[in-house]
Amino acid sequence: MADSKASLSIDGNVVADLPILKGSAGNDVIDIRTLGGAGYFTYDPGFLATASCESEITFIDGDKGVLQHRGYPIDSLAKQADYLEVCYILLNGSAPTKAQYDEFTKIITNHTMVHEKLVHFFHGFLPDAHPMAMLCGVVGALSSFYHSDLDINEPDQRMRSAHRLIAKMPTIAAMAYKYSIGQPFVYPRNDLSYAENFLHMLFSVPAEEYVVSPTVARAMDRIFTLHADHEQNASTSTVRLAGSSGANPYACIAAGVASLWGPAHGGANEACLTMLEEIGSLDRVDEYVAKAKDKSDSFRLMGFGHRVYKNFDPRATVMRETCHEVLSELGIKDPLLDVAMALEKVALEDPYFIEKKLYPNVDFYSGIILKAIGIPTNMFTVIFAMSRTVGWIAHWDEMLGQPGQKIGRPRQKYTGEIDREFVPLSDR
Ligand code: SDX
Repeated sequence: MADSKASLSIDGNVVADLPILKGSAGNDVIDIRTLGGAGYFTYDPGFLATASCESEITFIDGDKGVLQHRGYPIDSLAKQADYLEVCYILLNGSAPTKAQYDEFTKIITNHTMVHEKLVHFFHGFLPDAHPMAMLCGVVGALSSFYHSDLDINEPDQRMRSAHRLIAKMPTIAAMAYKYSIGQPFVYPRNDLSYAENFLHMLFSVPAEEYVVSPTVARAMDRIFTLHADHEQNASTSTVRLAGSSGANPYACIAAGVASLWGPAHGGANEACLTMLEEIGSLDRVDEYVAKAKDKSDSFRLMGFGHRVYKNFDPRATVMRETCHEVLSELGIKDPLLDVAMALEKVALEDPYFIEKKLYPNVDFYSGIILKAIGIPTNMFTVIFAMSRTVGWIAHWDEMLGQPGQKIGRPRQKYTGEIDREFVPLSDR
């Protein structure tokens, strides 16, 4: 419903009246859908100022450092709910009753196994294949197991796809890890919580059962929650665009995995820990801060900066607290934490970072926690992808449930050659 309008005039002539639409929070949007008819496109590479859709799932206020899922603040969810409850909220819109939570947990628990044929996909990978490469391939392969009788126009069938993906991602992620270290795959157990089960599948071996530490399981669950969804980020937008054509949801999630892998996005947690290890000691922090400020140097401080948060990332705040909790409860003194804290302090006091509003983001502390838990660096983004699967599939479901849903098809500003005469090869 338009509350007011913007009139676009060019050289004094009004070419379009554009309705301004209000959401329930955040920026109003200018509805430009009629602009094509007036002979113009908007131009916004990287979508810095473009609302691609209407959504009720996650709200972010980058200036105030606000992140809410279905209206619930992220710090409340991280400290008072577990990841499966957050999954329920993202998919269904509100917090579950105890009975609804128990039913949802039972459904997810009973979908954690994968088809035995899926195991064979792993054996085509080289031993040193990156776990994200394996995740991308195997999640895409899931589409071959659930396709022929899948009707994505049916809400119940969309929800079943969501349940299967949330349930099976930890199993596939753990299989990627086991394959990368040459150990046998470990089956899920129905008597363990979501986080405990993942740790069990990661670290148990036939020779002995891995005893899950409650501290580690709680930290793992909180990391899942802090990565669950984040509005229209690159990977979520990838899933929406892929899904807008009616593509198989498992293939769409594989596209999301691919996009998240980039170091500018979900790959930053792995890159951040690699950077902290490269800095290595407190006396080299200033050298790296200088490199990050040097325009002639492509180096960036991994884990700093964000397209939306131009103040603090509320997830980083919770992650920082969790980092200290986990390290002290496990009795770990990690010098990398000292380097991270020094880097954060120096960067936050440095005029360059203050002016460019570069603050630690969600990826800055997660790597230190994951390392403390014993997760190898090349599995960090896999864990991010596992966690984000619920966000991706919730947005996919929301999009397909919206009346008048259309295939996404952006236009362009064309700057190439035009109307050239083609001379056949024989005459060139
Ligand atoms: C995630 O979108 C999401 O919601 C993502 C995410 C999610 O949950 O889905 O939150 C997860 O992807 C977090 C971001 C993780 N990425 C990193 O930590 C990688 C390091 N950070 C960046 O590369 C960068 O900050 C981005 C990609 C995150 C944001 O880039 P923008 O918004 O496109 O900003 P920009 O690249 O245009 O940078 C603005 C300025 C530039 O300087 P000028 O050209 O204006 O002189 O800030 C500088 C950049 O050079 N800058 C940095 C920097 N990030 C930006 N300088 C040093 N170190 C950095 N990390």
